[in-house]
Amino acid sequence: MPSDQDTPRHIAIIMDGNGRWAKERGLPRREGHRAGAESVREAIDACKELGVEYLTLYAFSSENWNRPAAEVKALMALLDRFLDEREKDLMRQDVRLLAIGQIERLPASTRKRLDRLKEKTANNRSITLVLALSYGSREEIVEAARSLATDAAAGKITPEQIDNSLFASRLWTGDIPDPDLLVRTSGELRVSNFLLWQISYAEIVIVKKFWPEFRQGDLFEAVNEYRRRHRRFGAL
Ligand code: IPE
Ligand code: IPE
Ligand code: MG
Repeated sequence: MPSDQDTPRHIAIIMDGNGRWAKERGLPRREGHRAGAESVREAIDACKELGVEYLTLYAFSSENWNRPAAEVKALMALLDRFLDEREKDLMRQDVRLLAIGQIERLPASTRKRLDRLKEKTANNRSITLVLALSYGSREEIVEAARSLATDAAAGKITPEQIDNSLFASRLWTGDIPDPDLLVRTSGELRVSNFLLWQISYAEIVIVKKFWPEFRQGDLFEAVNEYRRRHRRFGAL
């Protein structure tokens, strides 16, 4: 197969379609979310096999707080379960866990689990799993702008010092490299407030399948599609 690209260093996934998957089967939406947890395992395994360094998963958006309280509760419970049950797996797979988003909006018990697992996996090196939780890109950009404005007002920096790299360093993604490949499942053609700054030059692959149907082979296919692309970054 002709290959323009190597393996993407960073893959970001908008895990979409859990509710529709469940509806098709006459199940409650939370069953779709539950089934989606298995796809997370598959995505991590596939990325590890390929040697991907960073995998960012959009698990819960700032806007998802507007869903019915029962669904939000079910999603938080599933997140708690993931954090409780995956410790062994993450250690075995040498996965370092990070989180981005308005983490302070999560329930205290979830934050505690998250902190514990981040600390526990901090020295793992094979791959970094970044969970986007209560994440909104506009909120992230506004927060970065506010922190720079605060520093400028205090005389710590001058407005002229603000450039792409200083701005990017104030985003929640800090020194995580930008995604090379953005995958969205369920066929929707939108980015839904995800990593707006960071995906400036990401290659986008849309997968028709709903997230709970996503398997390792689907990730390999997305990466093959990425490898066939010719990235130009505005040059020739
Ligand atoms: C993705 O599936 C999971 C979250 C957004 C939390 P959805 O819940 O959006 O499922 P659909 O898109 O309604 O099918
Ligand atoms: C994006 O999916 C958020 C996550 C996958 C966590 P949504 O289902 O919330 O996005 P929209 O509403 O289809 O744009
Ligand atoms: Mg959706």
